[in-house]
Amino acid sequence: MTHEPDFDFGPFPVLETERMILRELLPEDGPGIFGIRGDYEVTKYNGGMNYTRLDQAEALIASIRDAYRDKRSVRWGMTLKGGDDAVIGMCGYNYWVRADFRGSIGYDLARAYWGRGLMPEALRAILTFGFEHMALNRVEADASINNRQSMRVLEKVGFLREGHQREQFYENGEFGDLVLFSLLKRDFRATDEG
Ligand SMILES: CC(C)(COP(=O)(O)OP(=O)(O)OC[C@H]1O[C@@H](n2cnc3c(N)ncnc32)[C@H](O)[C@@H]1OP(=O)(O)O)[C@@H](O)C(=O)NCCC(=O)NCCS
Repeated sequence: MTHEPDFDFGPFPVLETERMILRELLPEDGPGIFGIRGDYEVTKYNGGMNYTRLDQAEALIASIRDAYRDKRSVRWGMTLKGGDDAVIGMCGYNYWVRADFRGSIGYDLARAYWGRGLMPEALRAILTFGFEHMALNRVEADASINNRQSMRVLEKVGFLREGHQREQFYENGEFGDLVLFSLLKRDFRATDEG
């Protein structure tokens, strides 16, 4: 049985986790987003076109805000509790197919914060939100077969591998496979099972 979503892109849904506040991205978050997307190591499995100018980060924020206003997608800025409210990462739903109760997630985190389990913590919060308030039944994600960190994160929060799209992308002179993952509502556990 499915239920209807009670989220419809009204007031931005701020989420709280043990260590973070996930909030709306604001025009003044440009330097924070540039700190993430300006780093080749963060972007290398997603085309590798790291930003070289602050205005590119500001344009991304504007497009994310437009997509929320147009009810197309929702993306949270990750900030540390007790910090200076700077955005250190992003995560959210790239698309939401309401008719199928299905969405797709994407995420990235500034390199200085890798390895502390912050992204799994944030993803559990947005997945809980998605299953409870967007009425999702299925969440999809994909990662380059070379992106072991990202595949590890997906496994930590309970995603299962569904298969490969063979030689789906061309990168650094080589074709690479894209690995497809999904998580169903009935399989989701909101807490870390360690
Ligand atoms: C993928 C990403 C979000 C992981 O976030 P995170 O909060 O560091 O996740 P975790 O702390 O759970 O670490 C996941 C794995 O990354 C690896 N890892 C941790 N720190 C690392 C570091 N400094 N350098 C390289 N790999 C590291 C470990 O294998 C770890 O698994 P483990 O906990 O079993 O040891 C982050 O690495 C990132 O932003 N990468 C670039 C953007 C990206 O790939 N986005 C996803 C596109 S599909």
